[in-house]
Formats: sequence, structure tokens, C-alpha cells
Amino acid sequence: MSHFFTSPVGKKFIMSITGIFLMLFLIVHLSVNSLLMVGSDAFNSAAHFMVTNPFIRILEPILALGFIIHIIYSAYLTLQNQRYRPVRYKKVDRWGSTTWPSRNMFILGVLILIFLVIHLSNFYWKVRFGHLDTVMVEGTEMENLYGLVSGLFINWWWYDVIYILGALFLGLHLSHGFWAAFQSLGWDNDLWRIRLKRIAYVFAVIMGVGFASIPVYFLITSG
Ligand code: HEM
Repeated sequence: MSHFFTSPVGKKFIMSITGIFLMLFLIVHLSVNSLLMVGSDAFNSAAHFMVTNPFIRILEPILALGFIIHIIYSAYLTLQNQRYRPVRYKKVDRWGSTTWPSRNMFILGVLILIFLVIHLSNFYWKVRFGHLDTVMVEGTEMENLYGLVSGLFINWWWYDVIYILGALFLGLHLSHGFWAAFQSLGWDNDLWRIRLKRIAYVFAVIMGVGFASIPVYFLITSG
């Protein structure tokens, strides 16, 4: 079994499974965050549901583990590729048919990690270890997470820029990562390669434009 995790197939398998897991998280995260553009009650209610739902509370540490494994494994594979050139994890064809994101998955991952550290200190840290104001929504008292997020985007324009860049890096990372994840799991015939690449671009654009549209919305409506 331990041989599987160090074999080329096993390494790709781990990157794919953790990557697919993270993509599911992003779909849910973007859906909830889009409610920021609907209004404070809608977003606060959804965020309250996420924080108080026991199922989601169990999922959270699993999600954190998925992120950590994905990041540590990609760093390990990249270092290993550099050391033992013949056993490359990346494509051999570096400049022919490959795209810019596919050749720069690691650097894009590092940029997303930097974004994530800033992002978690902006919100997650404050929600878990800080003290937020509360509001009443339809008779229920809940934390005013909308106030925290909108305050950041309205008062600090450079955070808007950081979040737009974060969304761009994420979109580029996904434009390759999405189809590569499924390809590594064996979905690799000519027909599915083309289909998955198309779906990957649509998914990457939805995620990139979707996450970027939130700071853009606050920039436009507050200005
Ligand atoms: C405009 C864009 C975004 C907004 C407004 C936003 C908002 C938030 C908020 C309010 C939280 C804290 C939730 C809580 O602790 O209850 C959070 C947590 C988190 N965000 Fe984001 N986020 C955005 C983009 C992203 C992106 C692009 C990623 C991944 C690359 C990401 C990954 C995470 C993670 C891993 C957590 C911690 C887990 C969780 O609490 O669900 N976020 N985000």
C-alpha cells in the first residue's frame, strides 16, 4: 500500500482526489458568497447555517486536511521532479501543446496559498477567534459576517485588488487542474480529453469571474 502512494500513479491519484474535493468546496463557497450581492440578511443567514450545521462542522477539519495534503504533496512532487528529472510528474512536452497554466501549476499554487493566508486572516481567523457584532434576522440572533466582509471590501481598496488577483490565479490553476484531475483518474480517451478540457474552461471561468465579481461589486456599489 505504501508503495502505491510513492508510485507515479499513486501520487497523481492523491493530487486528483484532494483537488476534486477542493473543487467541491469552491462550488459551495462561491454559492454562499454570491449572496453577498443579494443582501446582508441573505448572506448572514446562509453563513449562520454553515457555522451551526453539525454536518458542515465535521466537514471543516476534513477540508483543512485536504488543503494541507494537496499543498504538501504538490511541493514534494515538484521538488522530486527537479531532483530526479527522468521521473517527471509533469508533461514531458514543455513548450509544444501544453498551456501556460499547465506549465505553471506550482507557481500558481504558491500564489493561491499566499492569497489563502491573507484571506483566512481577514475572515476565518476573526470569525473563530475574534468577536463580531450580532444582528437579528427573522427573529434569530447571528453574527454579522456581512458587515465584516463588506467593510473590508468597501474600506480597503487594495484588498479588492488582492481578491481579484486571487480569483484570477485560482481560475488559471483550475483551467488545467480540473481536467488533469479527471484525466489522472483514468478518464483519458480522446473524446473525454476534449470534453473535459471544455468543461474545465467553463468551470475555471465561473470560479474566476464568480469570486472576482464580489470585490468588483463592492467597488462599484460603494464608489
Ligand atoms: C470574494 C471572494 C471570497 C469571499 C468573500 C470569501 C469569504 C469567506 C469568509 C467570510 C470565510 C469565513 C467563513 C467562516 O469561518 O464562517 C471564508 C473562509 C474560507 N475561505 Fe473564502 N472567500 C472568498 C474566496 C475564497 C477563495 C478563492 C478560496 C480558495 C482559494 C477561499 C477559501 C476559504 C477557506 C479554505 C476558508 C476556511 C474554511 C471555511 O470557513 O469555510 N475563499 N471565506
